[in-house]
Amino acid sequence: MTLVVRRARVEETFPLRHAVLRPGRPVTASVYAEDQSAVNIGAWADDVLVGCATFFPDPWAGGPDEPPEPAAWRLRGMAVEPTRQRGGVGRRVLEAGVDAAREAGAPLLWANARTAALPFYEAQGWRVAGPEFITADTGLPHKPIVLRLDKRVD
Ligand SMILES: CC(C)(COP(=O)(O)OP(=O)(O)OC[C@H]1O[C@@H](n2cnc3c(N)ncnc32)[C@H](O)[C@@H]1OP(=O)(O)O)[C@@H](O)C(=O)NCCC(=O)NCCS
Repeated sequence: MTLVVRRARVEETFPLRHAVLRPGRPVTASVYAEDQSAVNIGAWADDVLVGCATFFPDPWAGGPDEPPEPAAWRLRGMAVEPTRQRGGVGRRVLEAGVDAAREAGAPLLWANARTAALPFYEAQGWRVAGPEFITADTGLPHKPIVLRLDKRVD
């Protein structure tokens, strides 16, 4: 499989984002206020979109052991087509978004991650930064997670 990972127009990602993250919900549930100004990343296999994620500036409010960061960026809409999961697509999409946020000068990335997806994020260096909660629009448990982008690698 040849995977092409590149910036996407957000409209390209809506069908996959909706099918994976908000199935059975109104399509408006898959539209974010920040979409048009965000960095949207897509992964295509043979011209079919199989992975997507969205990254945009959004201050981190702070957590028990991660202080507030007004210049932070946030990740939303991380999704991989079900038959392609655990094939490395998510990792490639996440890496591209992390690179984009770092290039934009973001010192920290954060997200409200589904608890079920935590092993994926932890494998890429993210860490849990607050207690579990249920989001109203999914009914699923989530935890805030962070990835520092300004850490020196010695
Ligand atoms: C979570 C999701 C985006 C991960 O994408 P993916 O393409 O399946 O993940 P990858 O194959 O790139 O995984 C990279 C690494 O993360 C880790 N990982 C990923 N999923 C994991 C899981 N369920 N359990 C343990 N480790 C996992 C592994 O270390 C994996 O490497 P390996 O397969 O070589 O061991 C994808 O599974 C998905 O769309 N799930 C449903 C929607 C969802 O939960 N989105 C996130 C909302 S916060």
